Amino acid sequence: MVYYSATGNTEEVANYIADATGGDLFEVEPAEPYTDDDLNWTDDNSRVSREYADESLIEEKYDEIYEICEKGSKLLL
Ligand SMILES: Cc1cc2nc3c(=O)[nH]c(=O)nc-3n(C[C@H](O)[C@H](O)[C@H](O)COP(=O)(O)O)c2cc1C
Repeated sequence: MVYYSATGNTEEVANYIADATGGDLFEVEPAEPYTDDDLNWTDDNSRVSREYADESLIEEKYDEIYEICEKGSKLLL
């Protein structure tokens, strides 16, 4: 199971699912860590807001992540 969690909410859910299913967890970590200001989704000009509006701004290598999933992971959170 592959997940990304900036503030821990998704991680908590991922842990519940891993416990219930006995699955392995793989945490995706951003190459460039997000600061609190970056994560402020109420600010239209924050990093997450800009990335949400334009996915090409996201630096992560999603191809690699999806490749990992195709090789055997069942769930992407
Ligand atoms: C673009 C964007 C929009 C968001 N909109 C909301 C929202 O409408 N309501 C909300 O409670 N959280 C919103 N969030 C915050 C997170 O999605 C939310 O806190 C989530 O649980 C964080 O998960 P994490 O702890 O695994 O990082 C938004 C985040 C982003 C990046």
